[in-house]
Amino acid sequence: MRIDIVTLFPQMFDGLLGCSIIGRARERSLVDIEIHDIRDYTHDKHHVVDDYPYGGGAGMVLKPEPIFETVEAVKTELGLSSVPTILLSPQGRLFNQDIARELAAYQHLVFICGHYEGVDERVAEHLATDEISIGDYLLSGGEIAAMAVIDCIIRLLPGVLGSEISLVEESHVGGGLEYPQYTRPPVYRGWATPSVLLSGDHAKIARWRRQQSLLRTSKRRPDLMERKALSPEDQRLLNEAFEISS
Ligand code: 6GU
Repeated sequence: MRIDIVTLFPQMFDGLLGCSIIGRARERSLVDIEIHDIRDYTHDKHHVVDDYPYGGGAGMVLKPEPIFETVEAVKTELGLSSVPTILLSPQGRLFNQDIARELAAYQHLVFICGHYEGVDERVAEHLATDEISIGDYLLSGGEIAAMAVIDCIIRLLPGVLGSEISLVEESHVGGGLEYPQYTRPPVYRGWATPSVLLSGDHAKIARWRRQQSLLRTSKRRPDLMERKALSPEDQRLLNEAFEISS
């Protein structure tokens, strides 16, 4: 996959590109990420990227020309007449794991990082093919949102994660929250690991984990529970968990 990021703050991506899973995916050429500075596509002496909003009001608005020209330069470089182009903005559709899977299927993606004051609407209307928000809160710019979206997508690419981890993902994300995890020592500051996890009984462990996952999801994220089809066994596990915890 090739990802092009269009931003006013290229340095913000330094950490993302070098670290952890994304760093390794890049080293192994599973993904190619290129950063483009919008300011490089201005033509005036002062490299102006924003201007006052028509109609008045607070803040500045990002001008369309340098953003269009940055994305067009990317398309020319790639030899493509069109490419999925995602504007990150609080006005976008709400990002989730289904959208991550949808985006992970593309060969190329362009991300345009907007700014909270706003981006000229012609970018959303005539340049972007999609507009995405990562949640109902306000960030100062689209960069952190782009990093969240890109991280989600890259971990879905074939070869990036081990197969077991991908399976865990399939069975939990969207389906519900993860069960609690423990590692050594078995007792830390008097807090013990649940004995079932030390029992070596794999069927019992799987059942406990499923039950914990259901209990957590119904307590913390009832919204996810409503969309979830519970098997009679799940229903039984959940009833039992509520009886124990009440
Ligand atoms: Cl994509 N951008 C900004 N500025 N704020 C956000 C967002 C995006 N998603 C949630 N909040």
